[in-house]
Amino acid sequence: MPMKILKNYTNKNFWKNKSVLITGINGFIGGNLSKYLVNLGAKVTGITNNKVKNRFLEFEKLSNKVKVHQVNLHKYAEVDKFIIKTKVDICIHLAAQVDVNIAKVNPLLTFQSNITGTYNLLESLRQKHETKSIIIASSDKSYGSYPLKKLPYKETYDLRPIYPYDVSKACGDLISKSYSSDLFNMPIIITRFANIYGPGQLNFTALVPDCILAVENYRKFTPRGNGTNKRDFLYVKDVCDLYTCLSFNLFKNKELKGEVFNAGTTHGYRVDQVLKKICMLSNRNDLYLKIKNDFKNKSLSGEIQHQFMNYNKLQKYFGWKPKYNLNDGLVETLEWYKDFLQINSYKYFIKK
Ligand SMILES: NC(=O)c1ccc[n+]([C@@H]2O[C@H](COP(=O)([O-])OP(=O)(O)OC[C@H]3O[C@@H](n4cnc5c(N)ncnc54)[C@H](O)[C@@H]3O)[C@@H](O)[C@H]2O)c1
Repeated sequence: MPMKILKNYTNKNFWKNKSVLITGINGFIGGNLSKYLVNLGAKVTGITNNKVKNRFLEFEKLSNKVKVHQVNLHKYAEVDKFIIKTKVDICIHLAAQVDVNIAKVNPLLTFQSNITGTYNLLESLRQKHETKSIIIASSDKSYGSYPLKKLPYKETYDLRPIYPYDVSKACGDLISKSYSSDLFNMPIIITRFANIYGPGQLNFTALVPDCILAVENYRKFTPRGNGTNKRDFLYVKDVCDLYTCLSFNLFKNKELKGEVFNAGTTHGYRVDQVLKKICMLSNRNDLYLKIKNDFKNKSLSGEIQHQFMNYNKLQKYFGWKPKYNLNDGLVETLEWYKDFLQINSYKYFIKK
């Protein structure tokens, strides 16, 4: 039930010098969230498993404002050594192997990062007993498939995934639930958000950046399915706002522990319609006609057919709703990529 919910979660007096650990800081959401929290005055530290420079933080001129450590979450000793010596008031766990194409051919890596990584982190935080707010990024994919008539997804739906990425996220989700139970009482909230898009998504196999490369003539767009599957799209600034709201409220009120929150827009956009929107916003109707043609005879395998999310619970608890609609989010996103790609080659981000 809703309880003593605080809406002043962007209060700089609270965030000033709070030690926030972001796992997966070199990733899309990690970069954006770092920017958001640094602007509120937080001391942001991050974990990543690779040595790759964070081109997003560099581009945003924030590299020297966050501390980034190379820690592989698969390895408990490495994680524990880092946690012991690092002050963590608030932890936002984003690190994961998120590439669905990689998950289809390398389930082991996906299970290690997303399942082992999650329990290693939580176990180490449990031993230290210091952190007052832990947010775990699960995903809409944890739910698995439901018939279209049951959508949008609600938090009360059972998790019944079958594909490797989806299962890995559901396992991390349930493990987090267990650490928040009356046995361990850890202050944990679990988030199950829809597809996220926006500046800094440098995994160019994701739908929006993949299409942007094509509209900007960097490479051809290769459809994964036939475009009829439906997805919900949440703008990354709305996601940063939500993580700030949830981590602040959990810090102030431990009764929120164990809660799960969905977020999306409740709207299922057909994938071909999203591509059409991006092409139209870029005056590339010619490209859309080509993509539409390429969709013929394709089918989507190893992925959930339709997903869109109900956010009633967030609205009830926090009065939250997304501030961005798809059009406004895409306009901002396109602008950002144009500037970014002028000085960074997309080829740098292609996984070898
Ligand atoms: N992007 C989306 O559409 C979306 C939607 C719902 C949920 N999520 C969840 O949000 C989180 C962040 O997603 P993202 O899009 O920013 O992903 P991303 O791939 O851009 O970033 C993930 C980061 O995790 C790090 N990482 C992976 N394995 C690691 C390991 N073993 N040890 C340490 N670091 C490791 C990577 O280096 C990378 O920096 C993920 O947990 C994802 O499942 C994402």
